[in-house]
Amino acid sequence: MSRLESEKALAAARAVDEVRAGMLVGLGTGSTAAYAVKSLSDRIRQGLRITAVATSQATETLARRLQVPLVPFQRISSVDLTIDGADEIDNQFQAIKGGGGALLREKVIGTASTRMIVIADSSKLVPQLGKFPLPAEVVPFATEFARARLAELGASVTLRVAGAAPFLTDQGNHILDATWSKLASPSEIAAALAAIPGIVEHGLFLDQIDTIMIARGDTVEVRHRGQA
Ligand code: A5P
Repeated sequence: MSRLESEKALAAARAVDEVRAGMLVGLGTGSTAAYAVKSLSDRIRQGLRITAVATSQATETLARRLQVPLVPFQRISSVDLTIDGADEIDNQFQAIKGGGGALLREKVIGTASTRMIVIADSSKLVPQLGKFPLPAEVVPFATEFARARLAELGASVTLRVAGAAPFLTDQGNHILDATWSKLASPSEIAAALAAIPGIVEHGLFLDQIDTIMIARGDTVEVRHRGQA
């Protein structure tokens, strides 16, 4: 296993230590979150009783295979603890997510959660967000319109593809990946994107994350929002 892979697994195991009996747990999406699903499955086999909701069809498939008991999110309005990865996270607990295309369900479930833990290898902690393209999920009807509006905001915009066709999210929507030469103010960008009709959600997580667990080598640094 490479160093970054073992860091992902380590951060994931540390976060799963926070799960308590009876919790409803939000399961993130991506390679780091997959380690958390595996760790959680190990604890369930040892007798832990929890239920979970998945942030994507991919995570749902993995959780079913690992016999993590799932409930459909449609029946739920709040979640106790969500454990998810990120594409970039900064020291202000702001993150870019959606590299795997699951940003809409991730944001709904993260926002519904009493506590959201982001787990990451050491490469994900950045001094400033924006090197990783910011994904925006857009209804296909509005893709070209939204692309033009993003360009007016100074972004270089790419329609995400899967082979020769546009990538489709779990909702059947497109993803536009936007890069700015410098993402100076994430909150201004978030507000501007929220004002573009047709964009259903964007991958900036500014308020949702309560705890960051970053693995570096053999140790996991744990930081809580609001604590020095
Ligand atoms: C999924 O849409 C994303 O938000 C992931 O959480 C993010 O891309 C991190 O994925 P990795 O853990 O695979 O890097």
